[in-house]
Amino acid sequence: MSNSDELKKLAGYRACELIQDGQTVGLGTGSTATHLVNRLAERIHQENLHVQAVSTSWSTTLQCRRLGIPLLDLGEVSHLDIAIDGADEIDCARNLIKGRGAAHLLEKIVAAMADRYVIVADETKKVALLGEKFAVPLEVLPSAIGLVTSKVSALGGQVVVRMGAPGKDGPVISDSGNLIVDAKFLGIPNPPELARALESIPGMLGHGLFVAMATHVILATANGLVEF
Ligand code: 5RP
Repeated sequence: MSNSDELKKLAGYRACELIQDGQTVGLGTGSTATHLVNRLAERIHQENLHVQAVSTSWSTTLQCRRLGIPLLDLGEVSHLDIAIDGADEIDCARNLIKGRGAAHLLEKIVAAMADRYVIVADETKKVALLGEKFAVPLEVLPSAIGLVTSKVSALGGQVVVRMGAPGKDGPVISDSGNLIVDAKFLGIPNPPELARALESIPGMLGHGLFVAMATHVILATANGLVEF
């Protein structure tokens, strides 16, 4: 396991300790959330923990099924005790950029249901200003791609339709059947303002700016865990 993966595992395992017997839990997507899901499966079997989970992606759903974690359908649920997920960038106010894995639309629905929304990451994800490294992923109704491209460009974003890796020619299609667009801004000094502007575009179904949603960040650093 690489150093970075060891840190992700440390954060994921620590977050898993926050889950209590009887809770309904949202499970995120990505290489950090994977460790959380592995550890939760161990706890369910070792401690006879009774939890019900909702998943944020096909990737996490398949992992849960493989490991025997009981899943509820996302559409059946409106409240979660806790949700735990990774992030691509985290600022000091716990605002986030998410969506490298194209799961940000469902991840945001899950986050909005949760009493506690906990973010797990390694130290490379902490930034002074959102947008320093990552583009903001957008989930876009295919028929709105022209409109969204034009409106986001007018907001100062450099827009690229995300393409599939080897194994899928053409664009990435999200788990909900939409296009994913990456919009690169040269730093985002006012995340709530940009979030509102993106939300006003018809056909822009979900963006990866998570403003004032996270209640707790667990950051694994070479010197140990930092929580804020
Ligand atoms: C997926 C996400 C992930 O949570 C985010 O990309 C972090 O992933 P990783 O833990 O692999 O770095 O938002 O849509």
